[in-house]
Amino acid sequence: MKQAAVTVLGIETSCDETAAAVLRLSPAGVDVLAEQVASQTEDHALYGGIVPEIAARAHVERLDGLIRMVMQEAGSGWETLDGVAATAGPGLIGGVMTGLSTAKAIALARGLPLVAVNHLEGHALSPRLAQDVPFPYLLLLVSGGHCQFVSVEGVGKYRRLGSTIDDAAGEAFDKTAKLLGLAGAGGPAVERAAEKGDPAAVDLPRPLLDRSGLDMSFSGLKTAVRRAAEEAPLTDQRRADISAAFQLAVADILVAKSARAMERMSEAGDGRTFVVAGGVAANRMLRARLEAEARRHGFAFVAPPLRWCTDNAAMIALAGAERLRLGLQDPLDTPARARWPLDEASAAAAPVYGGGKKGAKA
Ligand code: KG4
Ligand code: ZN
Repeated sequence: MKQAAVTVLGIETSCDETAAAVLRLSPAGVDVLAEQVASQTEDHALYGGIVPEIAARAHVERLDGLIRMVMQEAGSGWETLDGVAATAGPGLIGGVMTGLSTAKAIALARGLPLVAVNHLEGHALSPRLAQDVPFPYLLLLVSGGHCQFVSVEGVGKYRRLGSTIDDAAGEAFDKTAKLLGLAGAGGPAVERAAEKGDPAAVDLPRPLLDRSGLDMSFSGLKTAVRRAAEEAPLTDQRRADISAAFQLAVADILVAKSARAMERMSEAGDGRTFVVAGGVAANRMLRARLEAEARRHGFAFVAPPLRWCTDNAAMIALAGAERLRLGLQDPLDTPARARWPLDEASAAAAPVYGGGKKGAKA
């Protein structure tokens, strides 16, 4: 039987964000009582990418303090909690272990149920943090570590419709920024540079667009960007042109595949809501084009507020609360997993290989 209300502490440590949140899920809706995110961007800046050992250490150093902060902010004593939820994968294993073992220690010490959450389930349910998005819906999860279409049919019911076969889209943004020597965080830097660029000045490919499925590929695009960057002197105008051409190519790929995914959902008589989540959903041009495409297909368009698009613990707490309400919990010997597909059946039938700098792609 469904519990009327559950209050859950959520923990997220799978990549380069250390996060904790306290959330209450009741028939009235979702109430995020407190949340904190500590980004590690600075810690990795020197190295041009995420260093797993540095990430794991930073999680260890910061997590306890963040948990103390959210518990205080929420005004909840341990006795008000109904459970503890932590990301148990997929991600960088050292980080995942840090968060999961902290959750296990709290669960054991306080006699609380543990929920081991799949990070992708957190993203999949994230639109429901801000508004009531009924199941089923179509999700495009597009971030630094993931790029996939998922039919979200209910809590624990996810069907992967297609995914990248190599790099995630956000990773391609980050690599492009690095190749062009743009300062600051990858995606936003490319978006800024693109404003002054002419996308027609550089010819870039749209890999896999000629194939009928929903799988995507971004590594060929990255190679083409490298070639374009080497072909002519990298003036500011050239950087802007390449950025604009790259951004347009990514948008073309994601819009075309989203159109196909919406057609598929419509044919199957499934829900008519299209959700985009993940850090790349912050890109204004991409967001506008996806929204227009959704409208064209008669789909409602939902993009969670940005703080819940990028990695956060509120989405992990929500997934934990939803699972607890269904009576689902996990044993204290649940292992941390570097790889953990959201839809195990599809992953077994059509495995996707490749590991990016942000961890394994599931
Ligand atoms: O969701 P997120 O914070 O982390 C992962 O779970 O991976 O996404 C981060 C990714 C990075 O690759 C970043 O470059 C990309 O999102 N990103 C953007 C923009 N803002 C962040 N990409 C394109 N345009 C943006 N404005
Ligand atoms: Zn994520």
